[in-house]
Amino acid sequence: VAAASDPHPCLSVAFDYPVVFTRDLFGVENPALAGVLGRKEPTRKHRLLILVEEAVVRSWPGLLAEAARYAKSHKKLIELAGEPIVFEGGEACKDGLATALEVAERLNERGMDRQSFVMIIGGGAFLDMVGFAAAITHRGVRIVRVPTTVLAQADSAVGVKNGVNAFGKKNFLGTFAPPFAVVNDERLLESLPPRERVGGMSEAVKVALIKDPSFFTWIQANAARLAAHDHEATATLIRRSAQLHLDHIAGAGDPFELGTGRPLDFGHWSAHKLESLSKYEVRHGEAVAIGVAIDTWCSVEGGFLARSVLEDVVRLLEAIGFRLWDPRLSTTSAGGKLALLEGLDEFREHLGGELTITLLRDVGSGFDAHALDPDLVKGALAWLEARR
Ligand SMILES: NC(=O)c1ccc[n+]([C@@H]2O[C@H](COP(=O)([O-])OP(=O)(O)OC[C@H]3O[C@@H](n4cnc5c(N)ncnc54)[C@H](O)[C@@H]3O)[C@@H](O)[C@H]2O)c1
Ligand SMILES: [Zn+2]
Repeated sequence: VAAASDPHPCLSVAFDYPVVFTRDLFGVENPALAGVLGRKEPTRKHRLLILVEEAVVRSWPGLLAEAARYAKSHKKLIELAGEPIVFEGGEACKDGLATALEVAERLNERGMDRQSFVMIIGGGAFLDMVGFAAAITHRGVRIVRVPTTVLAQADSAVGVKNGVNAFGKKNFLGTFAPPFAVVNDERLLESLPPRERVGGMSEAVKVALIKDPSFFTWIQANAARLAAHDHEATATLIRRSAQLHLDHIAGAGDPFELGTGRPLDFGHWSAHKLESLSKYEVRHGEAVAIGVAIDTWCSVEGGFLARSVLEDVVRLLEAIGFRLWDPRLSTTSAGGKLALLEGLDEFREHLGGELTITLLRDVGSGFDAHALDPDLVKGALAWLEARR
Protein backbone atom coordinates (compact mmCIF):
# COMPACT_ATOMS: atom_id res chain seq x y z
CA VAL A 1 0.00 0.00 0.00
CA ALA A 2 1.40 3.41 -0.92
CA ALA A 3 2.16 5.63 2.03
CA ALA A 4 1.37 9.33 1.81
CA SER A 5 5.11 10.07 1.85
CA ASP A 6 5.88 7.81 -1.17
CA PRO A 7 6.71 9.71 -4.35
CA HIS A 8 3.91 9.85 -6.91
CA PRO A 9 4.94 11.95 -9.87
CA CYS A 10 2.27 13.25 -12.19
CA LEU A 11 3.46 14.18 -15.69
CA SER A 12 1.46 16.20 -18.07
CA VAL A 13 2.83 17.04 -21.51
CA ALA A 14 1.08 19.09 -24.16
CA PHE A 15 1.63 18.35 -27.84
CA ASP A 16 0.66 20.51 -30.76
CA TYR A 17 1.38 20.13 -34.46
CA PRO A 18 0.09 21.88 -37.54
CA VAL A 19 -1.57 19.92 -40.35
CA VAL A 20 -1.16 22.04 -43.46
CA PHE A 21 -2.95 21.61 -46.79
CA THR A 22 -1.05 22.94 -49.77
CA ARG A 23 -0.02 22.36 -53.37
CA ASP A 24 3.61 22.15 -54.58
CA LEU A 25 5.24 22.13 -51.17
CA PHE A 26 8.68 22.71 -52.72
CA GLY A 27 7.51 25.62 -54.86
CA VAL A 28 10.08 28.30 -54.03
CA GLU A 29 7.37 30.86 -53.38
CA ASN A 30 5.32 28.48 -51.20
CA PRO A 31 5.68 29.57 -47.54
CA ALA A 32 3.98 26.47 -46.05
CA LEU A 33 7.00 24.26 -45.43
CA ALA A 34 9.30 27.02 -44.20
CA GLY A 35 6.48 28.12 -41.92
CA VAL A 36 6.17 24.77 -40.21
CA LEU A 37 9.91 24.10 -40.00
CA GLY A 38 10.58 27.45 -38.40
CA ARG A 39 7.55 27.58 -36.20
CA LYS A 40 9.46 27.04 -32.92
CA GLU A 41 12.84 28.60 -33.65
CA PRO A 42 12.36 30.88 -36.68
CA THR A 43 15.82 32.39 -36.53
CA ARG A 44 17.78 29.16 -36.32
CA LYS A 45 19.10 26.92 -39.06
CA HIS A 46 17.55 23.45 -39.02
CA ARG A 47 19.09 20.23 -40.27
CA LEU A 48 16.71 18.35 -42.50
CA LEU A 49 17.02 14.86 -43.91
CA ILE A 50 14.53 13.72 -46.53
CA LEU A 51 13.48 10.08 -46.63
CA VAL A 52 11.30 9.36 -49.58
CA GLU A 53 9.70 6.25 -50.97
CA GLU A 54 10.82 4.99 -54.31
CA ALA A 55 7.39 4.97 -55.96
CA VAL A 56 7.12 8.70 -55.30
CA VAL A 57 10.55 9.46 -56.80
CA ARG A 58 9.68 7.32 -59.81
CA SER A 59 6.43 9.21 -60.30
CA TRP A 60 7.96 12.64 -59.62
CA PRO A 61 11.50 12.51 -61.02
CA GLY A 62 11.99 16.25 -60.49
CA LEU A 63 10.89 16.27 -56.85
CA LEU A 64 14.27 15.91 -55.19
CA ALA A 65 15.80 18.66 -57.31
CA GLU A 66 12.84 20.86 -56.31
CA ALA A 67 13.54 20.04 -52.66
CA ALA A 68 17.21 20.98 -53.05
CA ARG A 69 16.22 24.25 -54.73
CA TYR A 70 13.77 24.97 -51.92
CA ALA A 71 16.40 24.38 -49.24
CA LYS A 72 18.84 26.62 -51.09
CA SER A 73 16.34 29.44 -51.35
CA HIS A 74 15.65 29.12 -47.59
CA LYS A 75 19.24 28.63 -46.56
CA LYS A 76 18.93 30.72 -43.40
CA LEU A 77 16.40 28.20 -42.14
CA ILE A 78 17.22 24.87 -43.79
CA GLU A 79 20.44 22.91 -44.05
CA LEU A 80 20.05 19.60 -45.84
CA ALA A 81 21.70 16.72 -43.96
CA GLY A 82 23.09 15.28 -47.19
CA GLU A 83 21.30 13.79 -50.18
CA PRO A 84 17.76 12.46 -49.72
CA ILE A 85 17.54 8.75 -48.96
CA VAL A 86 15.25 6.59 -51.04
CA PHE A 87 13.70 3.37 -49.72
CA GLU A 88 11.15 0.97 -51.14
CA GLY A 89 7.71 1.65 -49.57
CA GLY A 90 4.41 -0.22 -49.52
CA GLU A 91 3.35 -2.78 -46.93
CA ALA A 92 6.52 -4.84 -47.56
CA CYS A 93 8.61 -2.15 -45.83
CA LYS A 94 6.58 -2.78 -42.64
CA ASP A 95 7.41 -6.49 -42.67
CA GLY A 96 9.34 -6.83 -39.42
CA LEU A 97 12.12 -4.61 -38.13
CA ALA A 98 14.69 -4.97 -40.89
CA THR A 99 13.91 -1.86 -42.94
CA ALA A 100 13.21 0.29 -39.87
CA LEU A 101 16.61 -0.61 -38.45
CA GLU A 102 18.26 0.22 -41.76
CA VAL A 103 16.60 3.61 -41.60
CA ALA A 104 17.85 4.10 -38.02
CA GLU A 105 21.35 3.24 -39.24
CA ARG A 106 21.12 5.93 -41.92
CA LEU A 107 19.93 8.44 -39.29
CA ASN A 108 22.98 7.58 -37.25
CA GLU A 109 25.33 7.96 -40.24
CA ARG A 110 23.88 11.36 -41.00
CA GLY A 111 24.33 12.49 -37.40
CA MET A 112 20.68 13.26 -36.81
CA ASP A 113 20.00 14.68 -33.35
CA ARG A 114 16.74 15.20 -31.50
CA GLN A 115 16.23 18.64 -32.94
CA SER A 116 17.00 17.64 -36.52
CA PHE A 117 14.08 17.08 -38.85
CA VAL A 118 13.35 13.86 -40.66
CA MET A 119 10.99 14.61 -43.50
CA ILE A 120 9.14 11.48 -44.58
CA ILE A 121 7.55 11.52 -48.02
CA GLY A 122 5.43 8.51 -48.90
CA GLY A 123 2.33 6.39 -48.40
CA GLY A 124 0.88 5.26 -45.08
CA ALA A 125 3.09 2.19 -44.83
CA PHE A 126 6.32 4.13 -45.47
CA LEU A 127 5.29 6.84 -42.98
CA ASP A 128 4.55 4.19 -40.35
CA MET A 129 7.90 2.44 -40.83
CA VAL A 130 10.16 5.51 -41.03
CA GLY A 131 8.13 7.19 -38.28
CA PHE A 132 8.85 4.21 -36.05
CA ALA A 133 12.58 4.31 -36.84
CA ALA A 134 12.65 8.05 -36.09
CA ALA A 135 10.72 7.56 -32.84
CA ILE A 136 13.21 5.06 -31.46
CA THR A 137 16.28 7.00 -32.66
CA HIS A 138 17.55 9.03 -29.69
CA ARG A 139 14.09 8.17 -28.25
CA GLY A 140 12.52 10.41 -30.85
CA VAL A 141 13.72 12.85 -33.50
CA ARG A 142 11.40 15.43 -35.00
CA ILE A 143 9.41 14.25 -37.98
CA VAL A 144 7.57 16.11 -40.69
CA ARG A 145 5.19 13.84 -42.55
CA VAL A 146 4.42 14.42 -46.19
CA PRO A 147 1.78 11.80 -47.02
CA THR A 148 1.39 10.85 -50.67
CA THR A 149 -1.73 8.66 -50.72
CA VAL A 150 -5.40 9.47 -50.16
CA LEU A 151 -5.44 7.14 -47.16
CA ALA A 152 -2.43 8.74 -45.53
CA GLN A 153 -3.61 12.31 -46.12
CA ALA A 154 -7.15 11.56 -44.95
CA ASP A 155 -6.25 9.44 -41.94
CA SER A 156 -2.97 7.81 -41.04
CA ALA A 157 -0.50 10.70 -41.41
CA VAL A 158 -2.46 13.19 -39.34
CA GLY A 159 -2.45 10.96 -36.24
CA VAL A 160 0.05 10.08 -33.55
CA LYS A 161 0.95 6.46 -34.31
CA ASN A 162 3.58 4.55 -36.21
CA GLY A 163 4.62 0.93 -36.37
CA VAL A 164 5.64 -2.16 -38.26
CA ASN A 165 4.08 -5.62 -38.55
CA ALA A 166 5.68 -8.48 -36.64
CA PHE A 167 4.95 -12.08 -35.59
CA GLY A 168 2.12 -12.21 -38.12
CA LYS A 169 0.36 -9.30 -36.43
CA LYS A 170 -0.38 -5.90 -37.86
CA ASN A 171 1.43 -2.98 -36.16
CA PHE A 172 2.71 -5.23 -33.37
CA LEU A 173 5.79 -3.04 -32.87
CA GLY A 174 5.25 0.68 -32.77
CA THR A 175 4.99 3.81 -30.68
CA PHE A 176 2.77 6.79 -30.08
CA ALA A 177 4.74 9.78 -31.35
CA PRO A 178 3.06 13.02 -32.43
CA PRO A 179 4.76 14.54 -35.49
CA PHE A 180 6.33 18.01 -35.56
CA ALA A 181 4.10 18.83 -38.53
CA VAL A 182 2.12 17.28 -41.37
CA VAL A 183 2.13 18.76 -44.86
CA ASN A 184 -0.54 17.45 -47.25
CA ASP A 185 0.39 18.29 -50.84
CA GLU A 186 -2.52 17.59 -53.17
CA ARG A 187 -0.32 17.53 -56.27
CA LEU A 188 1.49 14.40 -55.09
CA LEU A 189 -1.77 12.44 -55.30
CA GLU A 190 -1.95 12.92 -59.06
CA SER A 191 0.43 10.05 -59.74
CA LEU A 192 -1.52 7.48 -57.72
CA PRO A 193 -2.75 4.40 -59.54
CA PRO A 194 -6.58 4.16 -59.62
CA ARG A 195 -6.67 1.50 -56.90
CA GLU A 196 -4.87 3.78 -54.44
CA ARG A 197 -6.98 6.81 -55.31
CA VAL A 198 -10.09 5.05 -54.11
CA GLY A 199 -8.53 2.85 -51.41
CA GLY A 200 -8.34 5.45 -48.66
CA MET A 201 -11.87 6.72 -49.11
CA SER A 202 -13.20 3.93 -46.89
CA GLU A 203 -11.56 5.69 -43.92
CA ALA A 204 -13.61 8.78 -44.70
CA VAL A 205 -16.82 6.71 -44.87
CA LYS A 206 -15.79 5.11 -41.56
CA VAL A 207 -15.24 8.38 -39.74
CA ALA A 208 -18.44 9.86 -41.18
CA LEU A 209 -20.39 6.85 -39.91
CA ILE A 210 -19.17 7.21 -36.36
CA LYS A 211 -18.94 11.00 -36.16
CA ASP A 212 -20.73 13.07 -38.75
CA PRO A 213 -24.04 12.30 -40.53
CA SER A 214 -23.79 15.41 -42.72
CA PHE A 215 -20.40 14.24 -44.03
CA PHE A 216 -21.95 10.84 -44.79
CA THR A 217 -24.70 12.56 -46.77
CA TRP A 218 -22.06 14.61 -48.59
CA ILE A 219 -20.13 11.47 -49.56
CA GLN A 220 -23.36 9.88 -50.83
CA ALA A 221 -24.14 12.93 -52.94
CA ASN A 222 -20.60 12.96 -54.37
CA ALA A 223 -19.99 9.22 -54.76
CA ALA A 224 -19.91 9.34 -58.56
CA ARG A 225 -17.40 12.20 -58.57
CA LEU A 226 -15.25 10.39 -56.03
CA ALA A 227 -15.37 7.15 -58.04
CA ALA A 228 -14.22 9.16 -61.07
CA HIS A 229 -11.33 10.59 -58.99
CA ASP A 230 -12.66 14.12 -59.34
CA HIS A 231 -9.95 16.33 -58.01
CA GLU A 232 -12.05 18.81 -56.08
CA ALA A 233 -14.32 16.18 -54.51
CA THR A 234 -11.29 14.12 -53.43
CA ALA A 235 -9.67 17.19 -51.86
CA THR A 236 -12.85 18.00 -49.92
CA LEU A 237 -13.17 14.40 -48.74
CA ILE A 238 -9.56 14.34 -47.53
CA ARG A 239 -9.86 17.62 -45.67
CA ARG A 240 -13.06 16.70 -43.82
CA SER A 241 -11.84 13.22 -43.02
CA ALA A 242 -8.51 14.52 -41.69
CA GLN A 243 -10.34 17.14 -39.60
CA LEU A 244 -12.68 14.55 -38.05
CA HIS A 245 -9.77 12.26 -37.21
CA LEU A 246 -7.87 15.16 -35.66
CA ASP A 247 -10.90 16.36 -33.70
CA HIS A 248 -11.18 12.92 -32.18
CA ILE A 249 -7.47 12.53 -31.40
CA ALA A 250 -7.21 16.00 -29.88
CA GLY A 251 -10.64 16.23 -28.32
CA ALA A 252 -11.77 12.83 -27.08
CA GLY A 253 -9.36 12.76 -24.16
CA ASP A 254 -7.38 9.64 -25.04
CA PRO A 255 -4.82 10.40 -27.76
CA PHE A 256 -2.50 7.60 -26.69
CA GLU A 257 -5.32 5.08 -26.39
CA LEU A 258 -4.88 4.23 -22.73
CA GLY A 259 -8.52 3.20 -22.52
CA THR A 260 -9.97 0.36 -24.54
CA GLY A 261 -12.49 2.25 -26.70
CA ARG A 262 -11.20 3.14 -30.13
CA PRO A 263 -13.98 4.42 -32.35
CA LEU A 264 -11.60 5.41 -35.15
CA ASP A 265 -10.96 1.71 -35.53
CA PHE A 266 -14.57 0.99 -36.47
CA GLY A 267 -14.46 -1.96 -38.87
CA HIS A 268 -10.77 -2.57 -38.22
CA TRP A 269 -10.73 -5.78 -36.17
CA SER A 270 -11.67 -7.79 -39.27
CA ALA A 271 -9.83 -5.47 -41.66
CA HIS A 272 -6.48 -6.07 -39.99
CA LYS A 273 -7.07 -9.81 -39.97
CA LEU A 274 -8.11 -9.86 -43.63
CA GLU A 275 -5.00 -7.89 -44.59
CA SER A 276 -2.78 -10.45 -42.92
CA LEU A 277 -4.80 -13.46 -44.20
CA SER A 278 -4.32 -12.10 -47.71
CA LYS A 279 -0.61 -11.52 -47.09
CA TYR A 280 -1.37 -7.84 -47.59
CA GLU A 281 -2.68 -8.32 -51.11
CA VAL A 282 -5.90 -6.75 -49.87
CA ARG A 283 -4.94 -3.15 -49.21
CA HIS A 284 -5.70 -1.52 -45.85
CA GLY A 285 -8.39 0.76 -47.26
CA GLU A 286 -10.03 -2.08 -49.17
CA ALA A 287 -10.07 -4.25 -46.05
CA VAL A 288 -11.56 -1.38 -44.05
CA ALA A 289 -14.42 -1.07 -46.55
CA ILE A 290 -15.23 -4.76 -45.97
CA GLY A 291 -14.75 -4.42 -42.20
CA VAL A 292 -17.13 -1.47 -42.09
CA ALA A 293 -19.73 -3.51 -44.02
CA ILE A 294 -19.30 -6.45 -41.59
CA ASP A 295 -19.71 -4.33 -38.45
CA THR A 296 -22.63 -2.40 -39.93
CA TRP A 297 -24.33 -5.74 -40.66
CA CYS A 298 -23.62 -6.86 -37.07
CA SER A 299 -25.08 -3.56 -35.78
CA VAL A 300 -28.30 -4.26 -37.69
CA GLU A 301 -28.60 -7.93 -36.80
CA GLY A 302 -27.67 -7.19 -33.20
CA GLY A 303 -30.79 -5.03 -33.09
CA PHE A 304 -29.10 -1.64 -32.75
CA LEU A 305 -29.37 -0.10 -36.20
CA ALA A 306 -32.02 0.31 -38.89
CA ARG A 307 -31.56 -2.02 -41.88
CA SER A 308 -31.92 0.89 -44.30
CA VAL A 309 -28.57 2.26 -43.03
CA LEU A 310 -26.86 -1.01 -43.96
CA GLU A 311 -28.23 -0.74 -47.49
CA ASP A 312 -27.03 2.87 -47.68
CA VAL A 313 -23.55 1.96 -46.43
CA VAL A 314 -22.91 -0.95 -48.79
CA ARG A 315 -24.40 0.89 -51.75
CA LEU A 316 -22.14 3.86 -51.03
CA LEU A 317 -18.99 1.79 -50.65
CA GLU A 318 -19.75 -0.04 -53.89
CA ALA A 319 -20.57 3.20 -55.70
CA ILE A 320 -17.14 4.56 -54.74
CA GLY A 321 -15.59 1.41 -56.20
CA PHE A 322 -15.04 -1.09 -53.36
CA ARG A 323 -15.67 -4.81 -53.71
CA LEU A 324 -17.16 -6.04 -50.47
CA TRP A 325 -16.21 -9.68 -50.76
CA ASP A 326 -12.89 -11.44 -50.77
CA PRO A 327 -12.65 -15.25 -50.74
CA ARG A 328 -9.95 -15.11 -48.04
CA LEU A 329 -12.62 -13.96 -45.59
CA SER A 330 -13.72 -17.58 -45.32
CA THR A 331 -10.23 -18.98 -44.64
CA THR A 332 -10.33 -21.63 -41.92
CA SER A 333 -7.55 -22.25 -39.43
CA ALA A 334 -6.13 -25.64 -38.39
CA GLY A 335 -9.06 -26.60 -36.16
CA GLY A 336 -11.57 -25.76 -38.93
CA LYS A 337 -12.51 -22.48 -37.23
CA LEU A 338 -13.12 -19.29 -39.15
CA ALA A 339 -9.68 -17.60 -39.12
CA LEU A 340 -11.21 -14.13 -39.36
CA LEU A 341 -12.61 -14.52 -35.84
CA GLU A 342 -9.06 -14.64 -34.47
CA GLY A 343 -9.01 -10.98 -35.44
CA LEU A 344 -11.30 -10.23 -32.49
CA ASP A 345 -8.86 -11.64 -30.01
CA GLU A 346 -5.87 -10.00 -31.66
CA PHE A 347 -7.72 -6.69 -31.60
CA ARG A 348 -8.51 -7.11 -27.90
CA GLU A 349 -4.91 -7.93 -27.18
CA HIS A 350 -3.66 -4.91 -29.13
CA LEU A 351 -5.87 -2.55 -27.14
CA GLY A 352 -5.53 -4.29 -23.80
CA GLY A 353 -8.28 -4.96 -21.28
CA GLU A 354 -11.76 -5.99 -22.25
CA LEU A 355 -12.72 -6.50 -25.90
CA THR A 356 -14.13 -3.20 -27.14
CA ILE A 357 -15.34 -2.73 -30.66
CA THR A 358 -17.45 0.02 -32.09
CA LEU A 359 -20.93 -0.71 -33.42
CA LEU A 360 -23.47 1.76 -34.83
CA ARG A 361 -26.73 3.03 -33.43
CA ASP A 362 -27.27 5.48 -36.23
CA VAL A 363 -25.29 7.27 -38.89
CA GLY A 364 -22.87 9.49 -36.96
CA SER A 365 -23.34 7.60 -33.73
CA GLY A 366 -21.16 4.69 -32.63
CA PHE A 367 -21.05 2.94 -29.28
CA ASP A 368 -18.70 0.53 -27.50
CA ALA A 369 -19.67 -3.13 -27.58
CA HIS A 370 -17.81 -5.70 -25.50
CA ALA A 371 -18.77 -8.88 -27.28
CA LEU A 372 -19.51 -9.95 -30.82
CA ASP A 373 -21.38 -13.19 -31.41
CA PRO A 374 -19.38 -15.34 -33.89
CA ASP A 375 -22.66 -16.33 -35.53
CA LEU A 376 -23.32 -12.68 -36.32
CA VAL A 377 -19.95 -12.46 -38.04
CA LYS A 378 -20.65 -15.65 -39.98
CA GLY A 379 -24.02 -14.22 -40.97
CA ALA A 380 -22.36 -11.04 -42.20
CA LEU A 381 -19.94 -13.04 -44.34
CA ALA A 382 -22.72 -15.18 -45.82
CA TRP A 383 -24.64 -12.01 -46.66
CA LEU A 384 -21.67 -10.31 -48.28
CA GLU A 385 -20.74 -13.43 -50.25
CA ALA A 386 -24.28 -13.88 -51.51
CA ARG A 387 -24.55 -10.32 -52.82
CA ARG A 388 -21.13 -10.17 -54.46
N1 LIG B 1 -0.49 5.09 -38.17
C1 LIG B 1 -1.80 5.09 -38.30
O1 LIG B 1 -2.53 5.67 -37.47
C2 LIG B 1 -2.44 4.39 -39.46
C3 LIG B 1 -3.80 4.59 -39.74
C4 LIG B 1 -4.35 3.99 -40.87
C5 LIG B 1 -3.55 3.19 -41.67
N2 LIG B 1 -2.24 3.00 -41.36
C6 LIG B 1 -1.37 2.17 -42.19
O2 LIG B 1 -1.20 2.77 -43.47
C7 LIG B 1 -0.86 1.73 -44.41
C8 LIG B 1 -1.66 1.92 -45.67
O3 LIG B 1 -1.30 3.14 -46.25
P1 LIG B 1 -1.58 3.43 -47.80
O4 LIG B 1 -2.97 3.05 -48.12
O5 LIG B 1 -1.11 4.80 -48.03
O6 LIG B 1 -0.69 2.34 -48.55
P2 LIG B 1 0.84 2.28 -48.98
O7 LIG B 1 1.70 3.10 -48.16
O8 LIG B 1 1.14 0.82 -49.09
O9 LIG B 1 0.83 2.93 -50.45
C9 LIG B 1 0.06 2.35 -51.47
C10 LIG B 1 0.88 2.17 -52.75
O10 LIG B 1 1.01 3.43 -53.39
C11 LIG B 1 2.38 3.71 -53.69
N3 LIG B 1 2.48 5.17 -53.64
C12 LIG B 1 2.48 5.95 -52.55
N4 LIG B 1 2.42 7.24 -52.90
C13 LIG B 1 2.39 7.28 -54.25
C14 LIG B 1 2.30 8.32 -55.19
N5 LIG B 1 2.17 9.61 -54.83
N6 LIG B 1 2.28 8.00 -56.51
C15 LIG B 1 2.35 6.71 -56.90
N7 LIG B 1 2.40 5.67 -56.05
C16 LIG B 1 2.43 5.96 -54.73
C17 LIG B 1 3.14 2.90 -52.66
O11 LIG B 1 4.42 2.58 -53.10
C18 LIG B 1 2.27 1.67 -52.53
O12 LIG B 1 2.57 0.74 -53.54
C19 LIG B 1 -1.13 0.42 -43.72
O13 LIG B 1 0.06 -0.17 -43.32
C20 LIG B 1 -1.95 0.82 -42.51
O14 LIG B 1 -1.81 -0.08 -41.45
C21 LIG B 1 -1.68 3.59 -40.28
ZN1 LIG C 1 -7.41 2.35 -40.95
